[in-house]
Amino acid sequence: MHPRKLVTLDEFTIQETRKFPQATGELSALLRDIGLACKMINKQVRKAGLVDILGKHGATNVQGEEQMKLDIYANETLISVLQNSADCAGIASEENDEEVCFDEYSSHSKYVVLFDPLDGSSNIDVNAPIGTIFAIYRRTTSLAGHCRKEDFLQPGNKLMASGYVIYGSSTMMVYATRLGVNGFTLEPSIGEFCLSHPNMKCPDSGTIYSLNQGNSTRYEDGLRAYLEHCMENNKEENRPYSHRYIGSMVADMHRTLIKGGIFIYPSDSKSPNGKLRLQYECNPMAFLIEIAGGLASTGTGRILDIIPTELHQRTPIYIGSKNMVTKALEFINQKEPVA
Ligand code: AHG
Ligand code: MN
Ligand code: MN
Repeated sequence: MHPRKLVTLDEFTIQETRKFPQATGELSALLRDIGLACKMINKQVRKAGLVDILGKHGATNVQGEEQMKLDIYANETLISVLQNSADCAGIASEENDEEVCFDEYSSHSKYVVLFDPLDGSSNIDVNAPIGTIFAIYRRTTSLAGHCRKEDFLQPGNKLMASGYVIYGSSTMMVYATRLGVNGFTLEPSIGEFCLSHPNMKCPDSGTIYSLNQGNSTRYEDGLRAYLEHCMENNKEENRPYSHRYIGSMVADMHRTLIKGGIFIYPSDSKSPNGKLRLQYECNPMAFLIEIAGGLASTGTGRILDIIPTELHQRTPIYIGSKNMVTKALEFINQKEPVA
């Protein structure tokens, strides 16, 4: 029997480009650059448990170099790789107050990238999965000049591509374009992301709900009623559902994409806009999950239709399997409990 042919991320993106005679390959190149940066981040993540031996983050190592915290390392790695890429005019990151518009030869490129360089960073100490989230927009400003803030403040419905890398029991990159969602697992022996999950679809229904239920006294009544619904016995509808919450959006969303379910980070009495950031957490996940057949809502409207006004703005989010999100929205938008 012939061994199964591996398709690498590079090969796959080139094949996708060939489907469109007018495509220039710039978006594909950018996805490969993000893949490269994440392989470099992965290398550091895999050593995270050794900090006591190799030196604490923030301390100085034997060569006299300062050890960087992983989220700062991840941020700087993404910035330096994208700065050297011919296809990225600038970036915005959770770790930078303002966007960074590149001066070098790439300043006239047509794309900008937004990212959360390390998502779920509080999970590093306990060896639980963490990730990187990214979003790619085509610029709206003239390519003759540098990119500007407005290039980064586009609604999610204008995304060209988005995705994440999960540093889990294996390392995977999952990304979406309008052509579909595909997942690539890092094959460590050759250092390549290889297509392992072609054409991913989020199941229409699931049996897992995911949110920080410890905050439930701060939630609105409608959401509390929905949580009661999730916990209720109903054999025909497979309830009670299971509750799973890792506390890394990437890890919780990766499970939601594969197994189905709902992930919620709602508004509450303490945080009226929720916690998660629109431009580099919620929009990229919403774009990906919608392409995979799921739904993503603020509770009152589609995440992807929000017109952003600030780089770091937050939004509540209800995201995942179509039927579960629809049901949750019925509860939260109705004063009377839903049957
Ligand atoms: P980050 O590590 O990038 O700051 O993001 C953490 C986020 C997200 O990954 C996760 O879903 C959420 O914080 C968890 O928040 P709670 O601890 O409030 O549940
Ligand atoms: Mn995050
Ligand atoms: Mn982060």
